[in-house]
Amino acid sequence: MNTKDIASTLEKVYKEAGDFLPLNGTDYVEFYVGNAKQAAHFYKTAFGFQSLAYKGLETGSQDYSSYVLAQDKIRIVLTTPLNSKSPINDHLRKHGDGVKVIALWVDDAVKSYNETISRGAKSFMEPSKEEDSNGFVIRSGVYTYGETVHLFVERKNYNGIFLPGYKAWKSDYNPTTTGLKYIDHMVGNVGWNEMNTWAEYYQKVMGFVNVLSFDDKDISTEYSALMSKVMSNGNGRIKFPINEPAEGKKRSQIEEYINFYEGQGVQHLALATDNIIETVSVLKSRGVEFLTIPTVYYDELQSRVGKIDENITELAKLGILVDRDDEGYMLQIFTKPVEDRPTLFYEIIQRKGATSFGKGNFKALFESIELEQAKRGTL
Ligand code: FE2
Repeated sequence: MNTKDIASTLEKVYKEAGDFLPLNGTDYVEFYVGNAKQAAHFYKTAFGFQSLAYKGLETGSQDYSSYVLAQDKIRIVLTTPLNSKSPINDHLRKHGDGVKVIALWVDDAVKSYNETISRGAKSFMEPSKEEDSNGFVIRSGVYTYGETVHLFVERKNYNGIFLPGYKAWKSDYNPTTTGLKYIDHMVGNVGWNEMNTWAEYYQKVMGFVNVLSFDDKDISTEYSALMSKVMSNGNGRIKFPINEPAEGKKRSQIEEYINFYEGQGVQHLALATDNIIETVSVLKSRGVEFLTIPTVYYDELQSRVGKIDENITELAKLGILVDRDDEGYMLQIFTKPVEDRPTLFYEIIQRKGATSFGKGNFKALFESIELEQAKRGTL
């Protein structure tokens, strides 16, 4: 669907159901990790995130520590348990490091909770008010695929650094940013035949619409395949593609993820930049590892995407991919998984008009992923 089709579909949907879950944007993404102090160092050093807020023994938090890092509009929270009794351990034992919370910024966390629960969402956290001298925040939450949750964050009556209970995190170690601006989309991997269930969940329970679909013919190589549906909220600020594995000659990359994550979960976060060549050059120099693309990809690039502003030799040197739709073009590149289990990775994306997700790159990209799977013995 192009932007016009999406707008008319949304109009129809809201005429029938009303926009019962208005979302202002992503509030933060919280990861459960084995060692938050070291993970924070990685995200500062490698990705250029800035120290924002902290919670831990020094602030009276006895059970867990959380480090909040920011870069432009992106906010991530890294949380680790401080003793064996914390339920966070169960999550870590099963899944390893990964995304637990995709928090959404709303004007009314009680209404968001009631609207989604009444449409069939499973409760994670009833609306609860947290306060300190800077005001109060109301948060509530529901489960989505696997053990992943959405928290609704109402912060209009709060002007502290992050959330009540956090103090500003002042650090002497402050590497520069890398030009990352906002989260473009976040992708969930679900099990065999589960894609439609979760696409429907986002439609019925959260008022999203399906703006794009890819079947196994779009996304297959000789060996592995997947299917995907892109779900978007009303204002388009939140986009959640949902992937499921498809039959191929060998194991789908989605199946590999689900085996190692031991369940459904977040596969990748796409982070947007205004200058992908500069951002990727810096990320590489700071140790971020990207998938490599066969040079033959660049021989055909010009004829496939037409005229672009960037120098193709420079794109080839960095391994950046390009795709065009009827609204413009986009540039993208994918990191290798950022933990030992082959689970979560990142996409760096720059949009120049295009609203799509790089369908023209799937083949080159998946051949590259298969190469990595073969090295791991999981193809
Ligand atoms: Fe993506």
